[in-house]
This record gives sequence, C-alpha cells and structure tokens, in this order.
Amino acid sequence: MPAPLDIKVRAVHPDDATAILRVHEQSIRELGPTGYAPEEVESWAAGLRAEGYVEEMASGETLLVAEAESRIVGFGGLKSEEINTLYVAPEMARRGVGSALLQSLESIARDRGRRRLRLTATLIGEPFYRRHGYRELDRRKHPTRGGILIDSVVMEKDLAA
Ligand SMILES: CC(C)(COP(=O)(O)OP(=O)(O)OC[C@H]1O[C@@H](n2cnc3c(N)ncnc32)[C@H](O)[C@@H]1OP(=O)(O)O)[C@@H](O)C(=O)NCCC(=O)NCCS
Repeated sequence: MPAPLDIKVRAVHPDDATAILRVHEQSIRELGPTGYAPEEVESWAAGLRAEGYVEEMASGETLLVAEAESRIVGFGGLKSEEINTLYVAPEMARRGVGSALLQSLESIARDRGRRRLRLTATLIGEPFYRRHGYRELDRRKHPTRGGILIDSVVMEKDLAA
C-alpha cells in the first residue's frame, strides 16, 4: 500500500492550464474505460483545450487544483450550486485526492450560503459521490464534447445535513 499523500488544495493560477489539461485527458483516457466503451471515452475526451479552463472561470466557475509530490494531480470546479468538474490523475486514483478537492468545494459552497449541491456524475464517479453523501435523483444520457451521449447519474447532497 502506498504511503499517504501530502495533498494541498489551492486556487488555480493562470499558468496551471496546461497541467490541468494533461490531468484531464489522462484521467478520461485511463479511468474512463472502467465505465464506458472506447468510442464513448474518445467522445468524452474530444476537443479539450487549455483555454477552456480560463473561459470557464471567466463565466463564474471556481476552479481548484490539488497538488501532491510537487505537481498538479487533480482539479475540480464549482459553479453556483453545481460541482461541474472533478478529475484526478489516474496514477493518483484512490489516494484521497478527489475527496480533498470535493471537501474544499463543499466548504466554499457552504461559506457562500449554499444549502445543497448538485452534479451529473459519470458511472465512474457515482460510487465516489455516494460515499460522500450524494443521493441519486435521476439517470440520464449526458452529451459529451464529441457528440456521443453517455450514461450518467444526476445526484444531490444537502449541505446542511
Ligand atoms: C471519481 C474520481 C474523481 C475519484 O477520485 P479519487 O481521488 O480516486 O477518490 P478518493 O481516493 O478520494 O476516493 C474516496 C472514496 O470514494 C470511493 N471511490 C472512489 N473511486 C471509486 C471507484 N472507482 N469505485 C468504487 N468506489 C470508489 C471509495 O469509497 C473511496 O475510498 P477508498 O479508496 O478508501 O475505498 C476519480 O476516479 C476520477 O477522476 N475519475 C475519472 C473522471 C470522472 O469520472 N470524474 C467524475 C466526473 S463527475
């Protein structure tokens, strides 16, 4: 079993975009196949651009990164009452990085007076979010950037509970 990771969560810096893009692509391509067919994974990974993170922040997303071993190993975003992105580098999966990011995002949402959080989980994220107290509201086909619809789960957590 690997040693516990020293994980630091912080706000994004403008020059993080390339490292975030690398984590995003690797996470989809290497963790995605545990829940989806190859063509679904490719459609999910299609069209990612480093500028996209900056654009999302300009449109109101709060984006955090997790660092461990002196590099970015995950990122997550919050917009209004929604966790709208959360990805962990595949070689760091199941070492608490996703939990550290999610707890920081929930804490920010609470500080802003939000009473609940929603998200659309992938089939890979579903057990992770259940573990963190999210409950299923609906199952849907969710559009990916490449156009293919993939199975997903709409989930919600009451932050006051
Ligand atoms: C979902 C994701 C963010 C989880 O990140 P992570 O850093 O691996 O999660 P953690 O190590 O914090 O996991 C915490 C707990 O969640 C549950 N969990 C996490 N991944 C799981 C999995 N693949 N299967 C079952 N349970 C899982 C476990 O209870 C785990 O605790 P344990 O490892 O002690 O058993 C990561 O798998 C990922 O990036 N997936 C690909 C992208 C994706 O689908 N993102 C979600 C978009 S909505």
